[in-house]
Amino acid sequence: MTAEIYKNITERRSITKVLDEPVERTAIERILTAACWAPSHYRTYPWRFTVFEGEGRHALAEAMAMGAADRHDGSPSEKEEKAAMMYQKAFRAPVIITVHAAVGRSKFKNPPTWEDIAATCAASQNLLLAASAEGLGAIWRTGDVVNYPTVQELLKLDVQAGDTILGYVYVGHPDPEADQPLRPAPKVNDFVTYIS
Ligand SMILES: Cc1cc2nc3c(=O)[nH]c(=O)nc-3n(C[C@H](O)[C@H](O)[C@H](O)COP(=O)(O)O)c2cc1C
Repeated sequence: MTAEIYKNITERRSITKVLDEPVERTAIERILTAACWAPSHYRTYPWRFTVFEGEGRHALAEAMAMGAADRHDGSPSEKEEKAAMMYQKAFRAPVIITVHAAVGRSKFKNPPTWEDIAATCAASQNLLLAASAEGLGAIWRTGDVVNYPTVQELLKLDVQAGDTILGYVYVGHPDPEADQPLRPAPKVNDFVTYIS
């Protein structure tokens, strides 16, 4: 059991090339359940997920495209071009799961905003690890797009309260033709200080 978790952690890679084939809903439910087992201070469970799949991706694509056009300073045709490019990005995988933190929602006690955001990042890592364990390809993507008001509105964020989109996780069956992404093993001592 112990060996399995290390194998899962080290073998997970960000997968960009996935097939344009649906992913079983049961697998999506399992990886989302794994995400929800993340720790959170005061048990606020701040993570929120929105799953865009199949035709549902058009709603996200629309919001991303409008956001890109609004943000762009160029001519109307340049804005249109930027919007079209952004629209396509929502179709890079059959399933896109947006991840956001809903902060300050507890009726009892709330931690500082950053802690709800940190807990949601922990949930995102659970999601990636579970997807990898399922044999699915997944990648956490961010960029300007996570701050577009059009996307925040679509996901019904309470921005005033501090709700924050942490990223879009693209999920699909890995393309068997694609190169396996490699990553050198970390030199752990570069990152650690022991004080004995
Ligand atoms: C907060 C966060 C944001 C990321 N945003 C992007 C992104 O916008 N585009 C991208 O290609 N990869 C993104 N990644 C994935 C990293 O590129 C990837 O984790 C890194 O290259 C290490 O590769 P590995 O995940 O396979 O170990 C992001 C990862 C994290 C944790």
